[in-house]
Amino acid sequence: MKILITGGAGFIGSHIVDELLQEKTYELVVVDNLLTGNKKNIPPNVTFYPIDITNQQEVERVFEIEMPDYVIHQAGQVDVATSIQNPLHDASINILGTISLLSNSQKYSVKKFIYASSCAVYGETKNSNILENTKTFPLSFYGISKYTPEQYIALYNKIYGLPYTILRYANVYGPRQRIKAEGGVVAIFIHHLLNEKSPQIFGDGMQTRDFVYVKDVAKANHLALFKGDNHVINIGSNNQTTINDLYSLIKDYTSSSVSPIYKAKRDGDIRNSQLDNTRAKQILGWKPAYTLEEGLRETIKYYKSQKAG
Ligand SMILES: NC(=O)c1ccc[n+]([C@@H]2O[C@H](COP(=O)([O-])OP(=O)(O)OC[C@H]3O[C@@H](n4cnc5c(N)ncnc54)[C@H](O)[C@@H]3O)[C@@H](O)[C@H]2O)c1
Repeated sequence: MKILITGGAGFIGSHIVDELLQEKTYELVVVDNLLTGNKKNIPPNVTFYPIDITNQQEVERVFEIEMPDYVIHQAGQVDVATSIQNPLHDASINILGTISLLSNSQKYSVKKFIYASSCAVYGETKNSNILENTKTFPLSFYGISKYTPEQYIALYNKIYGLPYTILRYANVYGPRQRIKAEGGVVAIFIHHLLNEKSPQIFGDGMQTRDFVYVKDVAKANHLALFKGDNHVINIGSNNQTTINDLYSLIKDYTSSSVSPIYKAKRDGDIRNSQLDNTRAKQILGWKPAYTLEEGLRETIKYYKSQKAG
């Protein structure tokens, strides 16, 4: 069984690669242009194509050579602020790049397309506990560029019968998240506190996020190979944590004494976010294996080892 993972050199994609490599029968192929990914994240027994998903010809060449059974699509422009500064760049990768993968998946008879969507598609919601059927009101171009492919995916299914699962991730954190990644608040806090530097908090810090550990997200992608056909599924912890509380936990676990610097709220930032994960439990048989405390401790251990190395 051959699985093509786009964005496999990135944070979440590389954990999906690690998760899938535990199954000796899977053959893995990664497509990643290393925009934000790192070649070091790709194990040697994985076939790697350093190409751009928006390059139709090169993407088609990969499908022609590899004939993957499954596509797990993680590659993307992942930065909310970049999407607001440069919506064309954001849309070209997230929307056109996904269409290029979909058209090849259909042409080369892929069995299933699994797509990394985001809680950013919901935007500001009335209820703090967000179900999959909640109306979407993206607050950023990134939210739009993650949502639009969902509609293409559903229509590819309707017109061509290409099966899919759309996974809407909450805020993912864990080892290998880039410190420069805008949404990577956990990585940013840990990096600053381990170096006794003050990180910035945008707004009053009372905004909430649903934090889900990257290994749990990788597991959800693995389960989605065989379950959850033609469903949209939230992948979150079903809890919300304020940024101030997250800061206190990390401060505690890193034994730091540093205080944050509060800055003005940023455009496109959602106030509260908590993804209801009932559907993931029922349909995928998935629930988070890591509590926030366990995930944070593992993540801090990773960044400490990076610092020491
Ligand atoms: N990190 C989160 O909290 C989060 C939350 C919701 C959804 N997501 C989604 O999960 C996916 C993975 O995000 P991540 O956090 O691992 O980010 P990441 O930046 O670590 O990974 C993205 C990967 O895609 C690659 N890439 C970017 N543009 C490309 C292109 N044009 N062609 C080929 N490869 C390209 C990058 O090099 C990188 O390896 C993204 O689709 C993102 O929208 C992430």
